[in-house]
Amino acid sequence: MLYRIQQFIKAITAKVSEEEKQWISQQLSKAECELFFKLKVHEQRHCIDVAKVLSANPCGNREMIRLGLLHDIGKIKYPLNPIEKGIIVLLDQLTKGKIQRMTSLKIVKCYYEHAEIGYELLKALAQYDETFLERVRRHHSQGKGDEVLESLKNADDSC
Ligand SMILES: [Fe+2]
Ligand SMILES: [Fe+2]
Repeated sequence: MLYRIQQFIKAITAKVSEEEKQWISQQLSKAECELFFKLKVHEQRHCIDVAKVLSANPCGNREMIRLGLLHDIGKIKYPLNPIEKGIIVLLDQLTKGKIQRMTSLKIVKCYYEHAEIGYELLKALAQYDETFLERVRRHHSQGKGDEVLESLKNADDSC
């Protein structure tokens, strides 16, 4: 519970500096930046933190940094504020995931479908190989021997 409270405080106080915005514009294309800056600030913060963890990984490369920045891009379709995000995380735990059947709720769509939505959004830009797209799509699933996906999932969980 303490962890959840820390996550909530982190979300409501999230900021992205001008230096970080510049760094992002060096990592992403113009079209990707347009998508990225549609994310809520707390989601931008999370994705930057994930990308920074991946960049510190001994195997970290530009592709992994870009994956970190873009893995949650599907959240732009049904954006959640920190309170909504806190509610769905709690509901997921309390109902042991059964809440995901209520697909008419925006918070449910964002929480459970953002990986698939992100895959579709990026696919529409037509500038990625299928491996990159699949990693976005599967970032909440098992890595199954894909070390990059495992690194992404570990970084995601730590941020
Ligand atoms: Fe995600
Ligand atoms: Fe994430």
